[in-house]
Amino acid sequence: MGHQVIVVLDFGSQYTQLIARRIREQAVYCEIHPYTIATDPELAQLRALKPTGIVLSGGPSSVYEDGAPTIVPAVYDLGVPVLGICYGAQLTALLLGGKVRSAERREYGRASIKVLRADGPLKTVTVGEELAVWASHGDHVDALPPGFVHTASSANCEMSGFANPARKIDCLQFHPEVVHTPRGAELLGNWLFGVVGAAGDWSMASFVDEAVARIRAQVGEQGRVICGLSGGVDSSVAAALIHKAIGDRLTCIFVDNGLLRKGEREQVRAMFGDHFKDAAGTSGGGSGAEWRRGSIDLRVIDAEARFLEKLADVSDPEKKRKIIGYEFIAVFDEEAKTIENAKFLAQGTLYPDVIESVSFKGPSAVIKSHHNVGGLPEKMKLSLVEPLRELFKDEVRQLGLELGLPRHMVMRQPFPGPGLAVRCLGSLTKPRLDVLRAADAIIDEEIRAAGLYESIWQSFGVLLPVRSVGVMGDARTYEEALALRAVHSKDGMTADWVPLPYDLLARISTRVINECRGINRVVYDITSKPPGTIEWE
Ligand code: XMP
Repeated sequence: MGHQVIVVLDFGSQYTQLIARRIREQAVYCEIHPYTIATDPELAQLRALKPTGIVLSGGPSSVYEDGAPTIVPAVYDLGVPVLGICYGAQLTALLLGGKVRSAERREYGRASIKVLRADGPLKTVTVGEELAVWASHGDHVDALPPGFVHTASSANCEMSGFANPARKIDCLQFHPEVVHTPRGAELLGNWLFGVVGAAGDWSMASFVDEAVARIRAQVGEQGRVICGLSGGVDSSVAAALIHKAIGDRLTCIFVDNGLLRKGEREQVRAMFGDHFKDAAGTSGGGSGAEWRRGSIDLRVIDAEARFLEKLADVSDPEKKRKIIGYEFIAVFDEEAKTIENAKFLAQGTLYPDVIESVSFKGPSAVIKSHHNVGGLPEKMKLSLVEPLRELFKDEVRQLGLELGLPRHMVMRQPFPGPGLAVRCLGSLTKPRLDVLRAADAIIDEEIRAAGLYESIWQSFGVLLPVRSVGVMGDARTYEEALALRAVHSKDGMTADWVPLPYDLLARISTRVINECRGINRVVYDITSKPPGTIEWE
């Protein structure tokens, strides 16, 4: 423990997560918290985090709006350097006695600033030099608070930069965290290493140590944790991390709902049964002794018949999701009841899930409908252990490798909670699911063999309840069609279809039709998102 922490107070900017990223990329640990942790006069929550630096993020509000987010000015008296970005800069000006003018029009975009004072974040920029930045000109700062100096200006925004060097408060009226500010990382680095005095000694390995200590502190000496394993990256990495912290006081439950991909159950069993034993001492973290504390208590539950019975004759996608979610909770709950003394439930919630489900205005959680285990902790009266809450997907993958999980699992493409159910259009019968599973395995194999698996966000097949005529050998066929889908995406919110090479398309098509009885036609989906969605249902 004892690592330096930069705390980003979030005022709702779409770029807040990028600030944390850019800081961690410079080997300094960083956490995002809603600005509401800095609204009580004592600042108890903020102080408890022991920040070495505080960043005030941008945000969509105007400081003069009714109910505009604000913090107590005592934040500036903690003796901790503060960096205000956009909204954070305007709020700083207002709270410390400056004047902010409400702009009639908000302007965002590329701008060029002139540096007036090479200090703080601007330390490595020559005075008089023009710097390309991504600006957000909302309100304008008209008059600086007492003790502040003007550090940069642009044609549209006189006060692009201002600072109080004695109090270590720096304000930028543009976004150093986005790539459109080409020297942004350098400016953040100047602040981190020049103003804050960060050591820059943070790494994924230190994240493991800190997370292990946090989990132990939360769970205590006796606490038992239950973790639902889905076979995906997030829950696997969370389980591996928690196992490292508390060994055999972790019980994992893997529910085979009959909607999984080929071999998934066996892979999970291999990874969490044998891998954990085999990996003793070889995880690279240097704490082999803990790794050997006990192999994982993994409960694999065969619930295929139960799920398929409930799903028979259901073709409405939302109904499918509801049934699957409800049934999952029921199965999980039944098993969990057999685990004595379990008070904690582990979830592989990632930062993007946190921002999607938690309003920045406060902790009022809105569980998104995609969140498959929503409602589980409340029902079971368990406290949540969420060791990945601060991380982005690629950081979780890095962490998985650091923990010694196999690469093929850590680099896995996302797979939806309702599994093949939303890729098997029409009636959900075991034979149709088996055909789809076989086709899916071929697609997976061929995409991997072509070396494209890791560069593609998702690639999969969708079984369509549409029959068409074909001819195989001398015989006429009348079978279903498979839609092949492959998309590039950064976060699943938008996506582009992938122009897969023709020879690869040809191989997949030939193999699927030859090897999967029940499919006689393969079509390629060339729809991006929007207007389409990634899944067909
Ligand atoms: P769509 O189809 O909405 O998918 O463009 C966006 C991303 O979300 C995944 N997805 C789901 N994930 N439960 C999940 O856990 C669901 O019900 C669900 N529906 C879609 C999808 O695979 C894609 O990555």
